[in-house]
Amino acid sequence: FEHLFSNSSFLTTSSSLSLRKGVIIGAGQVGLACAYSLLIQDCFDELILQDIAQDKTEGEVMDLMHGIPFISPTLVTAGTVADAGKNADIVIITAGASQKPGESRLSLVERNVTIFKNLIAEVVQHCPHAILLIVSNPVDIMTYVTLKLSGFPSHRVLGSGTVLDTARFRALLSQKLNLDARSIHAYIIGEHGDSELPVWSTVNVAGMKLCDGRPGSPNVDDPQLAEIFDQVKNAAYEIIQRKGYTSYAIGLAVTDIVKAILRNQRRIMTVSRFVDGLYGLPELCISLPTVVDRQGATQLINLSLNQTEQEQLNHSAQVLQNILGQLDL
Ligand code: 2OP
Repeated sequence: FEHLFSNSSFLTTSSSLSLRKGVIIGAGQVGLACAYSLLIQDCFDELILQDIAQDKTEGEVMDLMHGIPFISPTLVTAGTVADAGKNADIVIITAGASQKPGESRLSLVERNVTIFKNLIAEVVQHCPHAILLIVSNPVDIMTYVTLKLSGFPSHRVLGSGTVLDTARFRALLSQKLNLDARSIHAYIIGEHGDSELPVWSTVNVAGMKLCDGRPGSPNVDDPQLAEIFDQVKNAAYEIIQRKGYTSYAIGLAVTDIVKAILRNQRRIMTVSRFVDGLYGLPELCISLPTVVDRQGATQLINLSLNQTEQEQLNHSAQVLQNILGQLDL
């Protein structure tokens, strides 16, 4: 074994196949939930955690690393995009202020834009070919800010958007209908926040629309449906009130997005990305069903929305536009 000990970096010895490298910037509750989920689902060969709290991050990395014998190997380290994280394939950004009980996501804008101004320049310098996956809130605004600050092509800058809200929606519908959530096709679109909307007109199981006017099928204005959507929209408030933050479901949502990218799945997900003109929307980043593959968020799907849904989407875009108009980038 002498050669192994003398070459302690044997895990990183390069071969002709390139290793899948990911960096998570921000090792708070969300970043760590992402790290744990990414590790146990074998997404990367190398995972680097970057945070200003270096000691704590080193402790978290030790804890994660000690679990590697139970799973497929990943080289997990504390570092930055400037060292171990250089030339990463995907940079996941969860850094920044997060909501306190009762606080809305939009109230975080100023603090997080200031943080991103330095951060994105560093990421662009050291990871010029990476796909940037933004998780920090307000995620649609921060995705737009990242797009502008990075100068990257729009498909390489995406936000976790309403992937989490869509999951919450499907989880609650699954309980109501007593069916596996994976068999329920339903989307939450718009802002990842208070102005988001459910696309009731397309919710379907096995191709059968939930609200199709058949006798016994619910109406889109059925109070039971409104109750489900309210629970989706207010989920983060309710969780933060009780435990102080949300983490597990966003960690799983980010992992699903990363898998869609690395495995070129061409999966349709409600990520946030730049929209220019589609749905009659102005220039902004907002969540809509989008094809996610090795190139990032490549193709927006043009859903046929009914009039109410289109109006709600326009309103959501307007909310985001009002904030974007106040930014000095
Ligand atoms: C969530 O929806 C807080 O945006 C975070 O869980």
